[in-house]
Amino acid sequence: MGTHDNTDEYGFDTRQVHAGEVDERNHGARITPIYLTAAYRFDSFAQAEDRFTGAEAGQVYSRNLNPTHEVAERRIASLEGGTGAIVVGSGQAAITALLLGLAGAGERIVSTASIYSGTRILFDRTFARLGVAADYVRDPADEAEWERLITAQTKAIFVETIPNPKNDLVDVAAIARIARRHTIPLIVDNTVATPYLIRPIEHGADAVVHSSTKFLTGHGAALSGVIVDGGRFDWAGSTRSYPGLTDPLAAGRSSLVESHGARALEAYLRFGIVNDFGAALSPVNSFLLQQGIETLSLRMAKHLENAEIVAAWLDAHPAVESVDFAGLPTSAYHRIAQERFGGHAGSVFAFTVRGGRDGAERFFDALRLISRMTNIGDVRSMALHPATTTHASFSAEERARLGIGDGLIRLSVGIETAADLIADLDRALAAAAAS
Ligand SMILES: Cc1ncc(COP(=O)(O)O)c(C=O)c1O
Repeated sequence: MGTHDNTDEYGFDTRQVHAGEVDERNHGARITPIYLTAAYRFDSFAQAEDRFTGAEAGQVYSRNLNPTHEVAERRIASLEGGTGAIVVGSGQAAITALLLGLAGAGERIVSTASIYSGTRILFDRTFARLGVAADYVRDPADEAEWERLITAQTKAIFVETIPNPKNDLVDVAAIARIARRHTIPLIVDNTVATPYLIRPIEHGADAVVHSSTKFLTGHGAALSGVIVDGGRFDWAGSTRSYPGLTDPLAAGRSSLVESHGARALEAYLRFGIVNDFGAALSPVNSFLLQQGIETLSLRMAKHLENAEIVAAWLDAHPAVESVDFAGLPTSAYHRIAQERFGGHAGSVFAFTVRGGRDGAERFFDALRLISRMTNIGDVRSMALHPATTTHASFSAEERARLGIGDGLIRLSVGIETAADLIADLDRALAAAAAS
């Protein structure tokens, strides 16, 4: 198989269909085949040795390289503007591999507090047990708070472009300036925004992660995660140490920074951390990921349009106390939406139904079209009550600090006909109001 023409000069819509594709010469298959193979045959004794030492590039075992994955990896790297990418078993696996690749026992991560609840639980439970501590910034716009929390042990800064459920958008460029000042890599979870809305590397991020389970795959069928290497971070020049990247791999050998340059992080994760942890993705899932990405811009345009219609409608509804959506001019995050997200705020947001927990329960149980379920970024619209589900294990004080009230409902707005979504919400809000 020869690689396809370089597609980097094409527009976003063309790259989401063609970037990274291969010209399959055996049969002329136009769609990337699903290479369901655990390992790869060597031509000779010498090739086996060279593949293992890395003297010759090529597959050895599907835990770190697979031809189906490679197409998805090149495509996502192209859309995000990175030097390379790695797909893994889930978004959670992507975050784990990247951050534990950078920080070890006795070291720290500084993160915004309103990140995805599962990531908070990962940090506070499992990372903490391994000796990696997370410090949480409450107001990402407050530089003094970042300065207070960043210490000599801080090895990475972690933020999400569009946190959910509160839709409290983050200004990546402002945080990138803080990260650069301290020579700490900035890792951005771009799951909810997707590269259609914002490309964090263009705003100074050093690596991007996704739960590609969500909008990138798009149809709610398969889990996957991805890590994109921004390629610009100066690992050797940082005031922090990143020995996995900067130390010689063995006596007399070069470091990954020396041998791989702008793709050192990708190499470190692919052949080191991801390979060791073994959070491998099925090629079936990376095939579904590729298929999903091909329509990303079309789906996102409809997700955004529907979310904006639904949020404005909810905002005017008497049974709704408030709407947390940065697309609304009244939102405290509207300026960031306008300056950094082209006036949009994604399609995952929250609103508070009057009547507290009882009102929320009546609303939830009356839904017919909108699915009662966790997950986000599906073509189907979904609703969830965070206080009793995703945030149930948080203390009442922490829920209050995060603004997760008893009447709060999270919506992930799909691509259905907007009027049908509004009719379903209207019926459910009428049920909530009828005590
Ligand atoms: C923003 C964000 N990051 C990461 C994850 C974890 O991804 P996964 O469920 O694919 O492990 C999720 C899942 O909901 C998410 O919403």
